[in-house]
Amino acid sequence: MPQPNNYAVKDISLAAQGANQMILARERMEPLLEVATQFKKTLPFKGLRIGMALHVTKETGVLVETLQAGGAEVAIASCNPLSTQDDVAAYLAKKGVAVFAYKGESKKDYYKFIQKIIAFKPHLTIDDGCDLVTEIHQKHPELIKNLIGGCEETTTGIIRLRAMEADKALHYPVVAVNDNQTKHLFDNYYGTGQSTWDGILRATNVLIAGKTVVVVGYGDCGRGVARRAAGMGAHVIVTEVKPVRALQAHMDGYEVMTMAKAAPLGDIFITVTGNKHVIRLEHMKAMRSGAIVANSGHFNTEIDLETLAKKASARKQLRPFVEGFTLGSKTLYILGEGRLINLAAAEGHPSEVMALSFCGQALACEWLVKERGKLAAGVHLLPPRIDEHIGAIALKSLGVSIDKLTPEQKRYLSSWQEGT
Ligand code: ADE
Repeated sequence: MPQPNNYAVKDISLAAQGANQMILARERMEPLLEVATQFKKTLPFKGLRIGMALHVTKETGVLVETLQAGGAEVAIASCNPLSTQDDVAAYLAKKGVAVFAYKGESKKDYYKFIQKIIAFKPHLTIDDGCDLVTEIHQKHPELIKNLIGGCEETTTGIIRLRAMEADKALHYPVVAVNDNQTKHLFDNYYGTGQSTWDGILRATNVLIAGKTVVVVGYGDCGRGVARRAAGMGAHVIVTEVKPVRALQAHMDGYEVMTMAKAAPLGDIFITVTGNKHVIRLEHMKAMRSGAIVANSGHFNTEIDLETLAKKASARKQLRPFVEGFTLGSKTLYILGEGRLINLAAAEGHPSEVMALSFCGQALACEWLVKERGKLAAGVHLLPPRIDEHIGAIALKSLGVSIDKLTPEQKRYLSSWQEGT
């Protein structure tokens, strides 16, 4: 199994800076440290290997330490070629973690690194986007008999897992961590809401007040991005394909229209749909010159950049994460190669929300081990009591107390006879 120097990182000498980043992350991730303290006592992962394909950030570093506290041996590759924090990767490598990731890795290296996680023969997988699970199923099905289960972090990954399930192609149990209330109500909404703007601002330094921002997709992430845009003084337009979400956006006070109508109106476009080609050439042709186009969904599929690249008469990298494309008489600015802008140009979600998401990952792994052999292959939800437990430890870390049900209220809630 991996030796201490079994790693591929950009520059191992960045480890000391990575250690500093880890200090700051731990400072803001108290609920996850609480889980680690419990794990040290119970060692739920003793003798087990956990293989991860996650963004290699300081927050993920704290998750790695939490799983190690529970006795796990951990190997990690990145789940996105542009999201690795090289100093954190170096820190983990120096600590003996098998880490394979560098910012700006080629597609070839990206899949080579996932193969390294497969070669590690994990008993549990943790994925963000489902690339590890699909690689195992398509190329290494022999691993499945020893896999206790897996966890998936993001909406995009769950969409793929459910498609696998419908195809009867998913052969081990996977927990939809994204569907925890303590994940999507916080990470997707507050996390994406803030970090998307962090990425756009670091990349461009553009003024938001007075701009027309088009938010493409009104799930939890889109709601967060729209709310923060409005808070900074933008005029917000939402485009959607789901009627109920569109209605919600309308009643939240935003203009709702089709992409065809929004295209000539927007100054800044942000895709958060988890879908493919939601901004196409016909939309880009209709945009104003100077429009900024960014993606904050998991994959770089949301904007049709291949067609833009073919049709553009010129392209120029103007500064990191800002590339100008000349299309007819116009220039459009594409941020971060259409990859998720919050991790490409900034540092992803702040530690406080990642603590909640990663309590979900750590406790889902523990639950899978406890339920070993009892869960059918397929997508599973974490039991609500574990979600509530995460909420409770997070409140405790914030020093917030809440009420308890009285015996009379408990009786009332479990009875049906009493009416008005
Ligand atoms: N996804 C979004 N933000 C993240 C972060 N800071 N760490 C790991 N995964 C993330």
